[in-house]
Amino acid sequence: MESKIFQPNSKNILKASKILQEGGSVVFPTETVYGIGANALNDKAVERIYAAKKRPQNNPLIVHVENLERARSIAHFSKIELFLAENFWPGPLTLVLNNGSQEISKKVTAGLRTIAIRVPKNTTAISLLKTFGKPIAAPSANISGEVSPTLATHALDLKKDVEMILDGNYCEIGLESTILKCGEGKIDILREGSLTRENIKKVISFEFPKIEISLQSPGKEIISPGQLLTHYSPKSNLRLNVLEPSKEEVYLAFGSKKASIEGFSLSENKILTEAARNLYNYLRLADEMILEDPNSNKKSIAVAPIPNYGLGASINDRLLRASTLKR
Ligand code: TXA
Ligand code: MG
Repeated sequence: MESKIFQPNSKNILKASKILQEGGSVVFPTETVYGIGANALNDKAVERIYAAKKRPQNNPLIVHVENLERARSIAHFSKIELFLAENFWPGPLTLVLNNGSQEISKKVTAGLRTIAIRVPKNTTAISLLKTFGKPIAAPSANISGEVSPTLATHALDLKKDVEMILDGNYCEIGLESTILKCGEGKIDILREGSLTRENIKKVISFEFPKIEISLQSPGKEIISPGQLLTHYSPKSNLRLNVLEPSKEEVYLAFGSKKASIEGFSLSENKILTEAARNLYNYLRLADEMILEDPNSNKKSIAVAPIPNYGLGASINDRLLRASTLKR
């Protein structure tokens, strides 16, 4: 079959934009993970991406736009929301805002009065948004509940249902965006990401010294389905905080790994940004070693302890959700 993966040159970006215009779906890179995009104004196009991902219809999508000005034409911003957008866009931040648009398909917002918006930083994503000239609804380009794609080839899981995949090599960050929702005197973190609570606190503390930032941990009321306990999951079972893996486990080390142990090191030098960037690819490769090699004695995955601060806390959040027992 002809490959659907294309280099992100101007000719192909124009082609991708035409596909979106005609109601098709395009996978494109962002600095967080790859997204499967559709014209956010077109009900049918949006329905197709729910179907491609086997995503429940009540789980709303993130709308991607090229700049703050466009975002302000879609949603209402409070003072603090505007401040966050001005400071962190373009980048790995999604804001849940009051929807002010009649045009965006109701399928995108799953009937909610709020709308999630993000301005990505990745140059291919921005070129596509500018060329297309309309908002693009884009969830991560994976089957719902499975591991998000951080390489173009990962998005081949959806190849039957997309017209084109733009290749942006590996995603620079490798974890989904941080999702925030602001309320009276508070900011709730609905999903942790590379933009950490510490980063947010530092930037807002002078202008908004009294605002409380709190994590909506699982167990509290679920506002964002990305908070569901089983999510971001490899197919194999995953054991956490492991220093001595068994012979039947594929090991994801943090730091150097003994040559006798089979697996990968998330970061030889224990650098959290590198570990985040490698995490999803290595979970997928570990699954392949376990499930696709008939001679393999490997049965599950084990991961080394990851320090639980800053970006490490976001990595641990994903690992915890990935580790719920599957069988
Ligand atoms: O980094 C990312 O955010 C990537 C790239 C492609 O931009 N996208 C992504 O989309 O992770 P997705 O669909 O996999 O996750 C979107 C999350 C879901 O957990 C969804 O429930 C939440 O955003 N969400 C969307 N609209 C919402 C809303 N109005 N209120 C609360 N949560 C919302
Ligand atoms: Mg997702």
